[in-house]
Parts: sequence; structure tokens; C-alpha cells
Amino acid sequence: MNTRWPLKSEEFIKLLGVEIPVIKAPMAGGPSSPELVAAVSNAGGLGSIGGGYLTPDILEKQIREVKSQTNNPFGVNLFITDPDKEITAPGTNISEKLSSYATELGVELTGQVAPFPDFEKQFEVVLDNKVRVFSFTFGIPEKKYTEELKRNNIFVIGTATSVGEAIALQNAGCDAVVAQGYEAGGHRGSFDVENGLPLVGTIALVPQIADRLNIPVIASGGIMDGRGIYASLSLGASAVQMGTAFLACEEANVNQSWVELLLSSEDVSTVLTNAYTGKFARGIKTRFTSEMQQFEKEIPEYPSQHQHTRELRVKAKELNNSEFMSFWAGQGSAMSRKTSAKGLIEELVKEYIEVSNNMGP
Ligand SMILES: Cc1cc2nc3c(=O)[nH]c(=O)nc-3n(C[C@H](O)[C@H](O)[C@H](O)COP(=O)(O)O)c2cc1C
Repeated sequence: MNTRWPLKSEEFIKLLGVEIPVIKAPMAGGPSSPELVAAVSNAGGLGSIGGGYLTPDILEKQIREVKSQTNNPFGVNLFITDPDKEITAPGTNISEKLSSYATELGVELTGQVAPFPDFEKQFEVVLDNKVRVFSFTFGIPEKKYTEELKRNNIFVIGTATSVGEAIALQNAGCDAVVAQGYEAGGHRGSFDVENGLPLVGTIALVPQIADRLNIPVIASGGIMDGRGIYASLSLGASAVQMGTAFLACEEANVNQSWVELLLSSEDVSTVLTNAYTGKFARGIKTRFTSEMQQFEKEIPEYPSQHQHTRELRVKAKELNNSEFMSFWAGQGSAMSRKTSAKGLIEELVKEYIEVSNNMGP
């Protein structure tokens, strides 16, 4: 592909060893199948494994699967959370509501806590496998981890939802920062929430972060086509990270209901909700998100709510009941296209070139 990208993007893609400044977002919980990751990397972008919920064994297996399908660089993403955070019981309103849903779905809520994978061991897998890129969300890893990554020549990308978070990530030694706007699908990566959850839109966030950092900025949130890529690079980003756009790709591990909802969605189909996990995330509106909204302020923080709703979500999936499953998606979901990852990347580049030509002198 002989596309001319802005100088900043050219430098960024050279650094990573990829051809185009498009990162397929890491999407934990299934969508980022090894096939999707490899297909994106083979098409010249950077595929990323969403390793947050994966046990070290499965993470290692997925890395091997990706490596067997591509020789190109790819990334692994993990969650930076507090492993000692206590699970708090839901209040009466939440508890009664979840119980009524459990009765409706015919599942018993045992209150059993499913442990999260051990970060240390996940991290070891990342190091042992010498992946090209390590990205993370929900916080800042301790210095010992970033130092170890540097020693292993692994490119480090953090996630910010505000200028303050971006500066903190740069100071912590990140090589680049994802600027995640309000439009973004999935969980907010916010970690500095003392003054409330940052909800800045991508078009306002990217230039403000780009103005303050001296490392590359990766725009993320609501970018679905070549126009979005062009706009992001114009705002000062070196690259984009796109999640929702890849969900309807053939290689994504996404159930049929999810794909149908994406393809039939509209601009107003998504909502920012804490109902499923206790951490705000954007997804397609369901009966569960609508009815739980009244309890927004009472919902226990992540990972407590994640644990309290787990058995409901598992049962809903088993029953293929869309009203209780989470379908993470960004505000651009209506622009989703059902194609292959390679096909999507080719279209994105073509669209980018068209816009560039139209915007030319
Ligand atoms: C289904 C889904 C899962 C996601 N999981 C992760 C994740 O595990 N780690 C992460 O850093 N970001 C995750 N994100 C957020 C993306 O990195 C990115 O910020 C977002 O997809 C950008 O918005 P867009 O979906 O409008 O492209 C996820 C997004 C989606 C849609």
C-alpha cells in the first residue's frame, strides 16, 4: 500500500513495524479472536489481543495462535486493577431487582465469586512471548512493570480519557497514549475520577492531549471509516484505535445477536451504563440497561457488580436472551459493516485517500 500518511503517522508506523496507522482495539471478553488479531496484522494494521479476562494459559495459547497466522507485529492488552479490592454486597434495591431477573431467567444467584486472572502471571506471559506492543487500561501499572517492558523492548501504550490522565501516563514511561473519547464502545479506561468520570468527546480530547504530550497520541472512540481516520490525524493523532468497526467482521468472535444489533443500530442506540459491571461502559441499550438506570448511583463499583450480575449474564447467553446480555458498542455502531478484516482495512484506506484528495489544495 503506497498511501501517504502525515509525517507523525509515518514515524509511528515505522516505530511499530506496521503499514497503516490503524490499531484494532483489544476487546476483552471474546471479540478479539486470534483470527481477527492476525487478519488485521496481516492487512497492515496492528491487531491486539484483549487479554484482560484471560487466564495466563489461554493468553499464551492465543498468542501462539496469532503467531502461527502472522509474522507481523501485534499487541496484548491487560487490565490494571486493584487485585485486593473487596467485593461489596449489593444494596436492597439492586439485590431485589437482580433476584427478580434471576427468577425470570430461571437461574439461582449463588453469590459465588469467580476470581480474576493473576496479573503477575498474565504479565509474565507477555514478557516471555516478547510481543511487540503491550497496552493497558483502567490505570497505571507499577514502575517495575514498565521498566521490565522497556528492558524487553516492548512498546507500551496506556489509555487516557482526560488530559490529566494522559500526562500521568507519559510521566509513567508510556511510549504512546490512547485518547479514548466519550463515543467509545466498551469500558471507559478512566482512572482519575476524583472530580467525576471524564466524559470528553474524541474531537475535543485528541487535540488537547496532543498539545500537551511529546509522545504519540492514538485517537479512539466513534471512528468507523476513512473520514474518522482523516479527522483524527488532522486533530494531532498519530494513529487511531478502532473497536466497534471490527465487531461485525467475519473473524470476530461475536454472537449473531450482537452482529444483528450492530447492523440494525442507529446513532442513538447506545448508552453509557454501569449496570453490568459497576464500571461505566458503552453498549447497545437493552431492557437491563434501561431498567437498571434508576439505580445508577447505588450500583456497587467494579468488580463487585461484575460478580453480582455474572450468573445472570451467563444464563442469558445460554438462553440467547438479548435483554440481559452486554453488547458493547460505540456511538458509531450504525456505521458497522459486515465484511472481512482485510476487506474493512482496504476500504478504510481507500476512504482515507478519497477524503485526503477531496481536502487537498
Ligand atoms: C467490545 C469491546 C471491548 C473492549 N475491550 C477493551 C479492552 O479489553 N481493553 C481496552 O483497552 N479497551 C477495550 N475496549 C475499548 C477500545 O479500546 C476503544 O477505546 C473503543 O473501542 C473505541 O471506540 P469505538 O468502539 O467507537 O471504536 C473495548 C471496546 C469494545 C467495543
